[in-house]
Amino acid sequence: MPASVMIRDARSASTPTDTTASKHAEGGAGADATLIARGAYLARAADCAGCHTAAPQPGRPGVPFAGGLGMASPFGTIYASNITPDPAAGIGRYSYGDFARALRDGVAPGGKRLYPAMPYPSFTKIEDDDMQALYAYFMHGVAPVATPAPQTRLPFPFSQRWALTFWDWMFVQHGRYEPDRRHDAQWNRGAYLVQSLGHCGACHTPRGPAYEERGYDHSARAYLTGGTNDHWFAPNLTGDPGAGLGRIRSDDISAFLRYGHGGGMVTFGSMVQVVEDSTQYLTDADLAAIATYLKSLPPRAGNGGFDAGARTAYLTQLSLRTGDVERPGAGLYQQYCARCHRADGMGMPLKYPRLAGNPAVLSADSGSLVRLLVEGGGSPHTIDGPSPKKMPSFAGKLTDVEMAQVLSFVRNAWGNAAEPLSVRDVSGVRAQLHK
Ligand code: HEC
Ligand code: HEC
Ligand code: HEC
Repeated sequence: MPASVMIRDARSASTPTDTTASKHAEGGAGADATLIARGAYLARAADCAGCHTAAPQPGRPGVPFAGGLGMASPFGTIYASNITPDPAAGIGRYSYGDFARALRDGVAPGGKRLYPAMPYPSFTKIEDDDMQALYAYFMHGVAPVATPAPQTRLPFPFSQRWALTFWDWMFVQHGRYEPDRRHDAQWNRGAYLVQSLGHCGACHTPRGPAYEERGYDHSARAYLTGGTNDHWFAPNLTGDPGAGLGRIRSDDISAFLRYGHGGGMVTFGSMVQVVEDSTQYLTDADLAAIATYLKSLPPRAGNGGFDAGARTAYLTQLSLRTGDVERPGAGLYQQYCARCHRADGMGMPLKYPRLAGNPAVLSADSGSLVRLLVEGGGSPHTIDGPSPKKMPSFAGKLTDVEMAQVLSFVRNAWGNAAEPLSVRDVSGVRAQLHK
């Protein structure tokens, strides 16, 4: 495949193609096309576009890498920078050293400390070869955009970027990924992708009081055990058989990352963009490596359980049939949810997720389930995957009490066993979302 095609292909499928990018690439002094194409692939694996592209507005499409996406943090909105090679508005004047330092150390030229909304604590592990390829791509494969990104203005004391020096010193372990000789090449490739470029822990690892991720690899007990960002809970990815990936097959994890559908789970919330922008483009070998690494993580932070043969599984069918007064959620489920998720909780393959045994349904933190019910959602658009389906919003149909009832039912039906929700769990999330 000619490099210019690959580069064009490597830009966001949903954004209009800018031909100057490929022209720029062909004229790219010295940087060879294979290196640039590899950089484009790695930029996808790291989802640079996901943060550095503003959401499209009516009449103003989000220009890839031109920055401007406002990211909600507990301290205020942080705007991602313009990282196109424009010399004034973007990073066109960056040397390779400047680029590697910004990505690995979180320090931009002139000594400006970057907020860790830029996942440099993960990118610090990126290997030199990959860093070179990324640099070649950003300098020669991306079209320059002369519009500056909006300035980030956080309230005092968070406006004091120099204070991030201490934060960095306290929490970040700098250094490249070190292969673990006790494991094979596939496992190491997976660990590398998850820990460095993929920065999966930015969402899936719980954060501490200073917003630091509580660990950047599996030597930390909290690593990938589940975290909340922007009111979405990213579930436990360790081997926990309840709310983790313990019961999910490797192939289903790969399929989930490629198509947004795997093992009956369907991507929702902030994971939709990860699949759309990033993981759907990874090679089969890289997806298999990621799945291998995740499946090797020992069960931690156990929550919830699933036993399809349990007596409660039988009782579910009974209460759905008889409209059990003890379980008001059963009636609500029958009325509002069974059409898609079915009475047996098995959903419909490649359309609607199963809720029976679905780890996201059994998660310790039910915030995402409430958010999904309130806002509704839609499965991802992918190149090779099934066509997207919508989950309707129930904000105007169900009261907080009813939402708590139906979700408590779902979390304890068909052999599912997880904490029920209180009305306060629902109203708390709705208050935070202002919906
Ligand atoms: C999770 C979101 C996120 C991802 C993924 C991400 N960035 Fe960033 N990046 C940011 C934010 C936010 C800033 C601005 C931080 C600040 O103002 O302190 C930033 C800043 C930068 C800067 C500093 C620019 C400057 O001079 O202000 C560079 C360079 C950069 N990112 C490159 C990249 C590259 C290359 C990738 C992919 C390998 C990437 N980023 C992935 C969020 C992200
Ligand atoms: C922007 C935040 C974010 C990032 C980054 C992210 N995830 Fe997720 N992920 C989520 C959320 C939220 C969910 C829950 C919704 C769902 O199941 O789709 C999720 C769900 C998942 C699931 C399904 C687990 C389950 O129990 O339902 C897998 C597997 C997964 N992510 C893997 C990954 C991998 C691998 C990476 C890194 C390459 C990654 N995620 C990066 C937010 C994120
Ligand atoms: C019109 C079909 C439809 C109806 C009705 C519906 N859902 Fe969904 N549901 C979906 C789709 C599609 C998704 C995937 C959403 C996404 O990807 O954002 C989903 C996802 C979910 C999930 C997350 C599981 C996962 O793996 O994605 C839960 C939990 C859920 N629905 C619960 C409910 C409940 C409870 C009701 C009734 C109050 C309901 N749904 C009604 C279509 C539906």
